[in-house]
Amino acid sequence: MTNAQKWVSIFLVLFILLLVLSKITDREESEATISENIESVETKSVKIDVEYLLGSNRCFTCHGKDLNGTGMAPSLANVSENWKKNSLVSYFQNPKAFLSNPRMAVLAEKYNRDMPAQERMTMEELEAVAKYLLNRK
Ligand code: HEC
Repeated sequence: MTNAQKWVSIFLVLFILLLVLSKITDREESEATISENIESVETKSVKIDVEYLLGSNRCFTCHGKDLNGTGMAPSLANVSENWKKNSLVSYFQNPKAFLSNPRMAVLAEKYNRDMPAQERMTMEELEAVAKYLLNRK
């Protein structure tokens, strides 16, 4: 082996070592970002801001800032007298399906408008809103 050939092989070995090292650190980094992402999804689903959802989905606009009703929609003060959590979530997803219920038909006629289907909220958010309404007095 000439001197030049020695240097070339030393250089090659170093290069390959560096390549392997950088692959290993790369993998550690992407594993770290994946677990970070999982963490932020978890904290998001734990902390659902119901007040924010009631505002951003315009519940306050129709049902009133204190949810005690306006000329546009009934009071939500006694929701627990008429609803259980699962049926309330179904109602949010498709209020029209409940118009066969005489009480809802009367309400829809009285306010002359339909409660809009809630299509923007996730299942967890719908459940959180339902629980919130069922637990307030
Ligand atoms: C465009 C106006 C409007 C908006 C926005 C609206 N509602 Fe309604 N809501 C109504 C009307 C009108 C009724 C009466 C029944 C019907 O017409 O379907 C109603 C009925 C309800 C009922 C049943 C009340 C009862 O006496 O059983 C609940 C619960 C309810 N709304 C919750 C919500 C929540 C939570 C939001 C926001 C995510 C919301 N509403 C947004 C108009 C609205």
